[in-house]
Amino acid sequence: MDIILLGPPGAGKGTQAALLEDKYGMVQLSTGDMLRAAVKAGTEVGLKAKALMEAGELVPDEVVSGIIGEKLDDLGPEQGVIFDGYPRTAAQAVSLDEILAARGRKLDHVIELVVDEDALVERITGRFTCGNCGEGYHDTFKKPAKDNVCDVCGASDFKRRPDDNEETVRTRMSEYRAKTQPILPIYEERGIVTKVDGMGSMDEVSKAIAAALAT
Ligand code: AP5
Repeated sequence: MDIILLGPPGAGKGTQAALLEDKYGMVQLSTGDMLRAAVKAGTEVGLKAKALMEAGELVPDEVVSGIIGEKLDDLGPEQGVIFDGYPRTAAQAVSLDEILAARGRKLDHVIELVVDEDALVERITGRFTCGNCGEGYHDTFKKPAKDNVCDVCGASDFKRRPDDNEETVRTRMSEYRAKTQPILPIYEERGIVTKVDGMGSMDEVSKAIAAALAT
């Protein structure tokens, strides 16, 4: 099964993708994570992406579509995939169709996480991750059981993203409204979109997604 998780910044795409990986053995393909890895490694892609990401603007379509194609080639044909943060523009949606068709794959579901934008700034500005294993946390909604110690690996090296400040979040939201939300009708016409209320608890959202995938 290949699915897209669609929703504005902070909607919970990464959180739910990680839960889907655990539950169904699917693989999360997050263009945001791939680009952050490229920035950290100082690759050519990373050099192109860094300033745009810090400003909350989108990286050029051909850059992200190129890395998605490469990642899919590393996976077996039976491996189900969760696209997290891709596609984000009409051009990327066209590229994804081509990338999937060339590999004999097709999209089964698009899950739209519907959220209240006012809550997203709080979600994003409170987010942090373990610098060692990448586990995600939140100052209010998901604290480590023991202060300053990762629940998963025991490390005490936590990180916050440079684009997780209020000003950049507002730009990211307006990019979503202008360029990403308009691609939904492409998938609605195919009858594969399910709207899921993203304002429930992480567990409630996860159950609603599981129900949508079972249809
Ligand atoms: P990207 O990394 O994709 O960021 P984003 O889309 O802005 O999404 P986020 O990662 O901020 O949010 P999320 O929905 O995954 O929420 P999360 O689960 O972490 O992209 C970053 C940048 O890279 C872009 O701005 C762009 O520059 C570039 N880029 C990436 N892809 C691109 C593309 N395709 N084209 C062009 N450019 C691209 O949750 C947020 C917080 O809320 C967490 O702390 C979590 O614990 C908490 N939380 C989650 N769910 C709940 C819940 N139900 N209740 C309470 N708290 C919750």
